[in-house]
Amino acid sequence: MFPKLSFAHLPTSIEKLPRLTKLLDGPELLIKRDDQTGLAFGGNKTRKLEYLMAAAIEEGADLVLSTGAAQSNHCRQTAAAAARCGLDCTLVLVGPEPEQASANLFLDRLLGAKINWTDKSNRDKDLQQAYDDALESGKKPYLIPYGGSNEVGAYAYYQAYAELYKQLNCNMVDWIVLASSSGGTQAGLAIGIGKDLTPKLIGISVDEPATNLQNNVYSIIEQYQIRTGMKTNLTIEDILVNDDYTGDGYGIMNEKDREAIHLFAENEGILLDPVYTGRAGAGLIDLIRKGFFKKEERVLFWHTGGTPGLFADRYLPYI
Ligand SMILES: Cc1ncc(COP(=O)(O)O)c(C=O)c1O
Repeated sequence: MFPKLSFAHLPTSIEKLPRLTKLLDGPELLIKRDDQTGLAFGGNKTRKLEYLMAAAIEEGADLVLSTGAAQSNHCRQTAAAAARCGLDCTLVLVGPEPEQASANLFLDRLLGAKINWTDKSNRDKDLQQAYDDALESGKKPYLIPYGGSNEVGAYAYYQAYAELYKQLNCNMVDWIVLASSSGGTQAGLAIGIGKDLTPKLIGISVDEPATNLQNNVYSIIEQYQIRTGMKTNLTIEDILVNDDYTGDGYGIMNEKDREAIHLFAENEGILLDPVYTGRAGAGLIDLIRKGFFKKEERVLFWHTGGTPGLFADRYLPYI
């Protein structure tokens, strides 16, 4: 369907979380380890980049550009994928530029990416400018969308769902819970699951109000349908998003995020991150405590990575 490179460590494992299950006294918990996909510390973007980088190479690109926050996991992995494929990489990051580069930003530099700083309101304009400048200087640039979230990135998670389905064989879980932000991961999994089928998929919004994120996920599904000619029958109501855990916004860690990071680490030896999976973990734990998931159900937490973020200067004192 879409051209693909192969650099992800797949299939990622599915593990039980017996101590966390016991501690929370709720449904049986499992985890899908997409924090172990490889490519400079792994994460959900590795799967998307196998397709996005293949598209860039097919178009003859010698430079990829993308954008994100200063501590973007997507940008770190894009820089790694570009290095792996022998392409240049320019990242347009939302500043301010910190005095000391730590964690993902440190890795962006190590991986050889060129960094342009911008602010949120100028992000898209500055990305376009970097693209135009590259063209003018004779480069062949390729734009990797924000979060790797378009129909191509979603296709990677459509395939990831097929991987899970095969691994679980007939023993499917009742729910999948994941961190959702630019929506491509949730869109791909939703397409894979299809309409009215088990498992139910809940995206824990990292920062967006539920209706915005639902719309974003659904528009990626629509793009996917147009591009592939495949009809999903999904409606916007099928996209389940919970925005109860967005707190004070993107990247602002709160006590629930912190507790989730500690519970996963101390009980299962699993590292969540301060921005995405810590927040999704906080949602999962709270929904269990509230009795949203029934004790006889099985819930799979799809770990989407981000662990280098734990070492960012701004979070170290709070974790
Ligand atoms: C660690 C991690 N988890 C989850 C997400 C959200 O994935 P998506 O942007 O596909 O919604 C991201 C996005 O950057 C991420 O870095």
